[in-house]
Amino acid sequence: MSELSAATRSRVAILGAGSRGAGAYGSYILRRPDLAQVVAIADPRPDRLAAAGAQHGVPAGNLYASWERLIAEERALDAIIIATPDTMHLAPALAAIARGIAILLEKPISLTEPEVRHLLAAADRTGADVTVAHVLRYTAFFARIKELLDRGVIGTLQCVRHTEHIGYWHFAHSYVRGNWRNAATAAPMILAKACHDFDILHWLIGAPCATISSFGRLGHFTAANAPEGSTGRCAEGCAVERTCPYSAHRIYLEKFPPADRWPHAVLSIDTSAEGIAAALHEGPYGRCVYRCDNDVVDHQVLLMHFENGVDATMTVSAFTGEVTRTINLMGSLGEIAGDFNANEITVTDFSLGDRRTSNLSIPGDALHGGGDDGLMADFLGRVQERRRRGGAPEASTSLRASVVSHLMAFAAERARASGQCTGLTM
Ligand SMILES: NC(=O)c1ccc[n+]([C@@H]2O[C@H](COP(=O)([O-])OP(=O)(O)OC[C@H]3O[C@@H](n4cnc5c(N)ncnc54)[C@H](O)[C@@H]3O)[C@@H](O)[C@H]2O)c1
Repeated sequence: MSELSAATRSRVAILGAGSRGAGAYGSYILRRPDLAQVVAIADPRPDRLAAAGAQHGVPAGNLYASWERLIAEERALDAIIIATPDTMHLAPALAAIARGIAILLEKPISLTEPEVRHLLAAADRTGADVTVAHVLRYTAFFARIKELLDRGVIGTLQCVRHTEHIGYWHFAHSYVRGNWRNAATAAPMILAKACHDFDILHWLIGAPCATISSFGRLGHFTAANAPEGSTGRCAEGCAVERTCPYSAHRIYLEKFPPADRWPHAVLSIDTSAEGIAAALHEGPYGRCVYRCDNDVVDHQVLLMHFENGVDATMTVSAFTGEVTRTINLMGSLGEIAGDFNANEITVTDFSLGDRRTSNLSIPGDALHGGGDDGLMADFLGRVQERRRRGGAPEASTSLRASVVSHLMAFAAERARASGQCTGLTM
């Protein structure tokens, strides 16, 4: 790296060196040393802190056990990536806004509507540059659908059917055994998982949502559904372990052979087969899915009406074989059908009776359909532009744009809990 390019690189701090902070964003910076360098990291887990520090060559003095000291002591930062757990987004974001540092903020913005509005007000007061990690907008798949809609290819959009297929094993990993299982320590499932989907619907439909109805419950992952002969942990002699689709052993050691990435990297820093087996023996990911402390819903169905007249349905479900999102956009002159995981978009033009399928070519291991890299390229590009010119345009997923998705999720949760159709105030 020449001295000149070293000087143009943005100085970035990472708060939370977990799957997202070190895995998705830190790894992008390692691949693009011309754009940025990680100069400080905070994480209370010594193993993660040391591993991320070594990867980025961060001196020991710039490694912190918590975000508070990092923000107080690091004086020459261009950007901060906030990838701490859900309950710890608001406070570091407020601190970084007060310091005038550009922020990449993981979703959810925060866990309650007053907190989200409070953060937006703070950012508005100072003109802070806050980008929310709604990565789907940065994927080739959704960008192409947006372009087709904006070109009027299907006439006037009338209604949308959107489904988030979480995947049975993925749901068990994150929402039964994992970090997002309990509403006391994480966001409700509809916010944690589907704020991305609300964001995409709002962006594609192009108008605020006016009303939402919603139904959903924790239908399956409860003690009442535990099969006879099952045990507290899959490895404790469970009688149905060999046939249970949720068996931890089958998921982490057979379906997905251990690898140094998500989901295994969530279980243990040692992602060898032995390390994963040890984690299943002792840690939360080896527990029986019917005997966890989970309370978040495992499926939720929504009906939405938007201010421009468009109506939409959304289903978010654990009970799917594929991990994907499918969408049907129905317009006055045509229809768009898409499968995110397959990278397949089909456009039907009613007047021509013509059906065209586009298969987008996205690198096989690109995370979130290329959205993680797209987000980072956009964010770091704007940070550099801000340094060069003293300003940069707002991100597509700015805090202001992103708040809408969260207000939709809070309204959906109120509608589900009350059984009442709920109006939204933006
Ligand atoms: N944009 C997306 O698509 C997407 C996908 C997955 C997760 N997320 C969100 O990203 C965030 C991080 O998720 P993750 O999967 O990386 O979780 P993780 O548990 O792997 O990482 C979080 C890290 O924060 C650290 N931490 C805890 N307290 C801290 C403190 N006081 N100071 C600094 N660090 C602290 C933890 O030790 C952990 O290493 C969550 O809010 C999650 O909802 C977003």
